[in-house]
Amino acid sequence: MSSLKKAKIAAIARAVPEKILTNFDLEKMVDTTDEWIRTRTGIEERHIADEKTTSSVLGIEATKKALKKAGISAEELDFIIVATITPDMVFPATACIIQNAIGATKAATMDIEAACSGFIYGLSIARQYIATGEAKNVLVIASEVLSKITDWDDRSTCILFGDGAGAAIITESDSDSEIMSTVLGGDGKYGDILYLPAGGSKKPASHETVDNKEHTIKMNGQDVFKAAVTKMRSSLKKALEKAGIKSSQLKLVIPHQANLRIIESLRKFLDLPKEKVYVNLQKYGNTSAASIAIAMSEAEENGIIKRGDYIALCAFGGGLTWAATVIKY
Ligand code: COA
Repeated sequence: MSSLKKAKIAAIARAVPEKILTNFDLEKMVDTTDEWIRTRTGIEERHIADEKTTSSVLGIEATKKALKKAGISAEELDFIIVATITPDMVFPATACIIQNAIGATKAATMDIEAACSGFIYGLSIARQYIATGEAKNVLVIASEVLSKITDWDDRSTCILFGDGAGAAIITESDSDSEIMSTVLGGDGKYGDILYLPAGGSKKPASHETVDNKEHTIKMNGQDVFKAAVTKMRSSLKKALEKAGIKSSQLKLVIPHQANLRIIESLRKFLDLPKEKVYVNLQKYGNTSAASIAIAMSEAEENGIIKRGDYIALCAFGGGLTWAATVIKY
């Protein structure tokens, strides 16, 4: 074990589409109000991609910024991992599309589908490859264009989601910066509380699936809410224990940005003041895998997290999946 190398996040960046859709815009589309959305979720607006913008487009933009910040070239990447539930196509993997676009000729490519937990799943995989020396530079991208799988007539889901991407460069650490612990989990018995029914081998696209809007997100919001609260707490607690860190030592917790009430419940469980739990869902809504990466990039850019700070990330999502990590940034 002692020969394992430490992995760190060398750089992180984000990209979101320009167009903003506010709660007031949604009032004109479905039977809802800005007040209902704000009080039940905390969301005020979200970024929405135009027709041509895919997950790879946003992923490439975030990647170029992250590579520049890390001071490494695309040719130096050994592995590209893309976390997304909105790949450009079923195959080839969005990681391959991005690899080609940026000229990462040496890199292996893989997509992972862990829904909103995808960014932390990606960090965990990257960490293992760095630890064993199998890879020196790993690019983890989380990119989603959820607006394209949203039922814009369903007020119980369309108010929640937004589009965006984050990209992180993971490298071997020669300082005390380190991804200290990761905890991943899943439970497929909850698969039917958050899912997209058609377009896979179970229900290939047909006129019927299109007419029934089965290519859009279906969700039982209350069941997801309950599972989210439980799993975010338990996974973060485990990640802290594995890292040997107390919650009071954390500079910042960056939870998945799905619902302010879920985040508040986590904050109270950890007994942390408001300023130690990052919230930006008012501006972006829930961007699934991208949410934590976007938030971390913002927190870093605004000087809220600095090298040497202990931070924690935690997420839950469709699957169900959940994940947490403690990082010395
Ligand atoms: N505007 C106005 N009313 C709405 C509405 C909307 N956009 N969406 C639902 N409602 C109505 C419902 O129809 C229901 O009406 P009824 O009481 O007459 O039947 C009422 O509001 C309450 O609905 P309910 O589903 O109980 O609300 P809630 O407090 O559970 O909030 C969510 C709904 C979706 C905001 C909440 O359950 C949630 O955020 N869950 C987690 C979802 C999540 O995080 N998903 C992503 C996971 S990665």
